[in-house]
Amino acid sequence: MDPGILQGEVTHVTWSGTSSGLPDDVDILQRVDAYLTSAGVDPAHPAPQDLYAVDQMHAFGYSATMAHLARLELTADMHVVDVGSGLGGAARVLAGEAGCRVTGVDVLAGLVEAASVLTHRVHLNDRVTFVTASALALPFPDAAVDHVWCHYVTMNIEDKKQFACEAARILKPGGHLSVVEVVAGPAAPPSYPLPWALVESESFLRGPRAVRDAVEAAGLVLVAAEENLPRPSWPPGPRVTQRLDVIISDWEARERNMITARREGRVTDQFVLARKGVGAS
Ligand SMILES: C[S@@+](CC[C@H](N)C(=O)[O-])C[C@H]1O[C@@H](n2cnc3c(N)ncnc32)[C@H](O)[C@@H]1O
Repeated sequence: MDPGILQGEVTHVTWSGTSSGLPDDVDILQRVDAYLTSAGVDPAHPAPQDLYAVDQMHAFGYSATMAHLARLELTADMHVVDVGSGLGGAARVLAGEAGCRVTGVDVLAGLVEAASVLTHRVHLNDRVTFVTASALALPFPDAAVDHVWCHYVTMNIEDKKQFACEAARILKPGGHLSVVEVVAGPAAPPSYPLPWALVESESFLRGPRAVRDAVEAAGLVLVAAEENLPRPSWPPGPRVTQRLDVIISDWEARERNMITARREGRVTDQFVLARKGVGAS
């Protein structure tokens, strides 16, 4: 276990697990391995980029991870916590690009297990580890980490203030919380299923003020907030076609509704950056 992690119970889990179609009860690695084999890659020895089609579990895949990273100043001496780390794709990109240490946190034990295995296979396990826990009870001591990263997860978190309070608690003074999320747009509510929820009652999609208000209520200083993020351009290197259908049931229907919802202004993407004051404990 990562020396910076506290042991503890997972409490207040708001994610509804398999009912949202995310694979906690199936062998997700089997699906990833079948995909890699069909793509002509030895599943035991993938390169990090061989995983991008399936391990970046969010809109616009690897390009969105890189766009989020480009807005930050992460350095190799930092310890970053990735809240809602999924298959660990973003955590591995952060470690690979910035050289930092990353601990991924996710409520779904099956994803945490698979993320760990994939990280060993690409030889990043010296810098990237994972733990099963909730965003609402982060298993780290106070003032322990340099950055909290949260990428397309807050739509699954009802109590956004508790999430922000936990981020504020574990950040060192001067550390940052960065969030990229889908927020409700000005038009009528979207149709479900969506990538993060099969039905509206499982979703905690809120307007753009929700996370901003939460971080300020948690005592963090809002540094930046940008709505209507542009579609990220693909970074240098080969373009990868996302294959989230490999790991998420009903992916086509979810993606179709998401494309419509974006086009009709029912949802939009937001970036939020907040800092813990240097005088804060
Ligand atoms: C859309 S996926 C994004 C995964 C990852 N951030 C990425 O960009 O590839 C959302 C993830 O958040 C996790 N999650 C949802 N609610 C959570 C909570 N309260 N605490 C921790 N993880 C949560 C889910 O299990 C899922 O893996």
